[in-house]
Amino acid sequence: MRLDVVTIFPEYLEPLNVSLVGKARARGQLDVRVHDLRAWTHDRHNTVDDTPYGGGPGMVMKPEPWGEALDSIMASGEAEGLVKPTLIVPTPSGRPFTQALAVELAERPWLVFAPARYEGIDRRVIEEYGELLEVHEVSIGDYVLAGGEAAVLVITEAVARLLPGVLGNAESHRDDSFAPGAMADLLEGPVYTKPPEWRGRSIPEVLISGHHGRIARWRRDEAFRRTSENRPDLIERCDPATLDKHDRALLAELGWEELPGTGGATGGARFGRPDRPVEE
Ligand code: ADE
Repeated sequence: MRLDVVTIFPEYLEPLNVSLVGKARARGQLDVRVHDLRAWTHDRHNTVDDTPYGGGPGMVMKPEPWGEALDSIMASGEAEGLVKPTLIVPTPSGRPFTQALAVELAERPWLVFAPARYEGIDRRVIEEYGELLEVHEVSIGDYVLAGGEAAVLVITEAVARLLPGVLGNAESHRDDSFAPGAMADLLEGPVYTKPPEWRGRSIPEVLISGHHGRIARWRRDEAFRRTSENRPDLIERCDPATLDKHDRALLAELGWEELPGTGGATGGARFGRPDRPVEE
């Protein structure tokens, strides 16, 4: 996979040289190219921003350097036989970045990231490239960062670990929280390793029972407990068809009830806790 990042802070992307992403680069599984947006400015001050039309606080990134940067990167990829990149614009106004989107992006041969600083990029850039490319405006969470570079690091790591051969153990993302499949839509429960006793704390007996069925059931129960505690919204939307008798009993013990005549096609809450208000 080729990955281009255009930024006014190339040094912010240094972490792409270490750990999983760094190793994937060294092995040739990822071709990462970080570009300084100011290389595509032509004035003495290398200006990339200007005041917003209509007034208001802050500055807006000018369209011309972005246009030149993206055209030049697209031409360089095309010269190397690539067709069109997928453009990712991190912004708190974008659609939420999820594991499902990470999986989708991991299938693309070429991603270009356009992280903004200031109040964002002149809208015409998104419109222009939206007509040429697949463009995703993506938010990594409901908070506002000073710029999109940290979001690029987050998205890159989530995508890179899904590329074939990047994670040591091919099994290791099968059970990820949010991975489609086995423990779909449940958070992962706690994990333990040696020693069996640490500071007077032992590990749950079941994990050394050698009984795979009981271990799997225990892990599922813990996943439900953790999800109920930390992400009640996932329990509310949980598909009753994926639950067995034991799951239902545990959810009842945790205070959940199946709501009659809800969910399904409407996508509303299917479970609720009568003693608590519905989560936002
Ligand atoms: N830029 C600033 N805040 C951001 C966020 N939450 N997600 C993505 N990009 C951002």
